[in-house]
Amino acid sequence: MFLFSGRECGNLAESVARKANLTVGKVKIKTFPDGEIYVRVLEEVKGQECVVLQSTPSNDALMELLFILDALRNLGAEKIHAVIPYLGYARQDKIFLSGEPLSAKLVLEMIKNRAESITTINAHFLDTSGKQSYENIEMKNLNAFTSLADYLKSKVDDPVLVSPDEGALGYLEEAGKLAKLQFDYFQKTRTSDEEVEMKIKEMDVSRKDVIILDDIISTGGTMVKATKILYDQGARSVNIGAVHGVLLEGMEKISQVADLVVCSNSIYRERYSQVSLSELIGNFLR
Ligand code: R5P
Repeated sequence: MFLFSGRECGNLAESVARKANLTVGKVKIKTFPDGEIYVRVLEEVKGQECVVLQSTPSNDALMELLFILDALRNLGAEKIHAVIPYLGYARQDKIFLSGEPLSAKLVLEMIKNRAESITTINAHFLDTSGKQSYENIEMKNLNAFTSLADYLKSKVDDPVLVSPDEGALGYLEEAGKLAKLQFDYFQKTRTSDEEVEMKIKEMDVSRKDVIILDDIISTGGTMVKATKILYDQGARSVNIGAVHGVLLEGMEKISQVADLVVCSNSIYRERYSQVSLSELIGNFLR
């Protein structure tokens, strides 16, 4: 069984394949001078089951994924499993304002038409409550919060876990139980049209090494605000973990205020991608 990887997951492919006992399939991928992408699968896959590993933080990465899936179909692969550690457009999962597209659904439909299964990690619109479909599209959602919690807890003395909002609480709860850590979350209350007040629901964080976990770091605004509040409340250190380090600028902004900032390698961020997803994905595929 082959595992093919797009360029976004080049750093993960070998280790995932080793853990899942798969062979990394050869695929030629290049970008033409005009920006178009060329893909050619260089393996015999007729009648075989294949895995395609590719995160989609950009439109190019998404096209690359679709092209690999299409090429495998054309070559007669029998079953194709798309594994998408970071699924782009997941935050446009609703029509928030009239006139908007339902981007998450459109993207998933394009993938679903070319793959027998879809697996992602900490997708923005799924949680740990057992919901495994979105808009009638079945998918498997893996939780990397435990890997982040395990890594960060090994770096500090007296760790507690905090979620920046209720949205990520399901993921955090699971990680807290597995990593045997006390956990709580920030409650957000709107005090005016422009102002949102954030405070930790119950936990006393004074003299604690607080670990905040979230699915995404984008601009870094959420984590910077949470870090400042935790210091005001007497935290000894603030250590940040995010599954998807979407924007490098966001990670850098947070590293100026927090003690430690790490993310997974769902999107490779040099210096920050300290937590590998190879075990989580490899075990799942196995
Ligand atoms: C929001 O619901 C997400 O879980 C993240 O908290 C959010 O996307 C982070 O964005 P930013 O880094 O721009 O504050």
